[in-house]
Amino acid sequence: MMSTGRSQIWRRRSGLTFWIRAGLILIIVIFIWVQMSFVDFGRNPGSFSDFNESQAAILSMVPVVLHKFLATKPKNGTNLGLNGSYNNLGFYKANLNISDIKRSIAQYNIQQTIYNEDIFGPLQNDSIVIVIQIHDRITYLRHLIISLAQARGISQALLVFSHDFYDEEINSLIQSVDFCKVIQIFYPYSIQTHPHEFPGEDPSDCPRDIKKDKALQMKCNNALYPDLYGHYREAKFTQTKHHWWWKVNRVFNQLEVTRNHTGLVLFLEEDHYVAEDFIHVLKLMERTCKEACRHCNILSLGTYLKTYNYFGDSKKKEAALRTKHQLKKTFAEIQPSWTFQVLPSLYQHPQKVEITPWISSKHNMGMAFNRTTWNEIVKCAAYFCKYDDYNWDWSLQHISQNCLKQKLHAMVARGPRVFHIGECGVHHKKDNCGSTAVISKVQKVLRAAKRHLYPDYLILTYAAVLKKNKLRKGNGGWGDHRDHKLCLGMTIR
Ligand SMILES: *[C@@H]1O[C@H](CO)[C@@H](O)[C@H](O)[C@H]1NC(C)=O
Ligand SMILES: *[C@@H]1O[C@H](CO)[C@@H](O)[C@H](O)[C@H]1NC(C)=O
Ligand SMILES: *[C@@H]1O[C@H](CO)[C@@H](O)[C@H](O)[C@H]1NC(C)=O
Ligand SMILES: *[C@@H]1O[C@H](CO)[C@@H](O)[C@H](O)[C@H]1NC(C)=O
Ligand SMILES: *[C@@H]1O[C@H](CO)[C@@H](O)[C@H](O)[C@H]1NC(C)=O
Ligand SMILES: *[C@@H]1O[C@H](CO)[C@@H](O)[C@H](O)[C@H]1NC(C)=O
Repeated sequence: MMSTGRSQIWRRRSGLTFWIRAGLILIIVIFIWVQMSFVDFGRNPGSFSDFNESQAAILSMVPVVLHKFLATKPKNGTNLGLNGSYNNLGFYKANLNISDIKRSIAQYNIQQTIYNEDIFGPLQNDSIVIVIQIHDRITYLRHLIISLAQARGISQALLVFSHDFYDEEINSLIQSVDFCKVIQIFYPYSIQTHPHEFPGEDPSDCPRDIKKDKALQMKCNNALYPDLYGHYREAKFTQTKHHWWWKVNRVFNQLEVTRNHTGLVLFLEEDHYVAEDFIHVLKLMERTCKEACRHCNILSLGTYLKTYNYFGDSKKKEAALRTKHQLKKTFAEIQPSWTFQVLPSLYQHPQKVEITPWISSKHNMGMAFNRTTWNEIVKCAAYFCKYDDYNWDWSLQHISQNCLKQKLHAMVARGPRVFHIGECGVHHKKDNCGSTAVISKVQKVLRAAKRHLYPDYLILTYAAVLKKNKLRKGNGGWGDHRDHKLCLGMTIR
């Protein structure tokens, strides 16, 4: 009963579901239209990216002082320290080639500049360090930053933005954050900086679907190492797990500002959105753990609810395709779905937390732990790095079940304080994963829940005892020994 998400997904979609879904879309469309009628069009739309009607609804929920984080034009006089030019739209376009990018990344990683430290003072041992893994989805990132800006207590926090894609517009957005301390770190083995060599795609790598005997004949690079399902490595699916492992190692063991930090470290991603009381709740959970759950070693601020269909997420889609090949579903048939019941539960359970074994597919969002937990996890690096599964969360669960003396035991907020806005949303076009519909929904849920936020105490509930979990095969995608080696190399002990 441990593997929720990925198995649920295979529930057949009935005709009835289709009609319910169609109904929901209609309701949303009408809702947005009604919103629209009240939006003030006097603003200058020119300065906002892709401004249109649904954007207007979202914008109307963002405090005016934070509109600057939606403006695509960098501040005048921003000195990015690189050679380039402003194009006719006012975007800074650096003429960067790969060697420039590599040099720049190396500089950032050596200099470790902490922005705004002069204003907010040095990191305290009870400050929260928030590590945000970023690729290139800047629209979601803008909204994450807007949500962070509104959180109480954020001025004491340190934001660590961990990048695997170098982009001047993203840099300038991050460097415009003015509400707390900020540092940027850059994953140095990205596909962007290694487009034609490992960890990117080497021209002599074996094609994904080739048979092993054929591969051996061809003498392609990784002929000996297909994954559990007989497929060869696909660079683009390996990066997230490498990056995840790299940044956690980097933050706990290497980065000057955090390597002695004893307090909590919270992990977010570019397409998350936080509730304004998330720091309050996190600290309350930390205290409650010390008093009432000594064996809890990981906190989770977000939870997926039962009605959620994980298929919005293309990487998970891929996992399912890998493991369930026999079902012969195509991407087009597997469509994301997202239902209304998911979000409003926030104000039905504002104070409830659940004590439960950590389950990768349910508790991987808005996770926090401290150095004590990390020291145990990092001892199990080999379990993480050699497990044939390209999902970092499943690999972490593998560690928990097979290596840790004390398994990961979570305290989970029943009313989520972290939301996932990067779903493929309610639009059913195949590749439409840039939808902003969920942002609007989350904004409204949070507004409606406002008076239920900032609980004084937490109510503990306990998850039903789960049956002993069977040993589970990984999802594959991580059979190549070069990946194992790269991953292990990030843990310098
Ligand atoms: C509004 O913008 C979004 C993304 O910016 C786009 O997907 C959508 O199609 C646009 N809608 C209209 C009506 O132009
Ligand atoms: C920018 O260009 C100038 C000369 O054109 C050069 O001296 C300088 O090193 C360059 N700066 C960077 C950061 O590449
Ligand atoms: C691009 O990279 C090469 C080295 O590979 C360097 O010599 C050259 O100056 C770079 N070009 C630009 C425009 O920066
Ligand atoms: C945090 O620092 C304060 C003083 O700076 C100290 O009294 C306290 O013991 C420290 N807490 C931990 C957990 O290190
Ligand atoms: C972290 O601790 C090490 C030794 O324990 C010390 O040398 C170093 O200066 C400390 N760094 C910071 C930033 O406090
Ligand atoms: C870190 O978390 C553990 C529980 O995992 C707790 O026992 C310990 O007191 C925490 N350490 C600090 C310094 O807060």
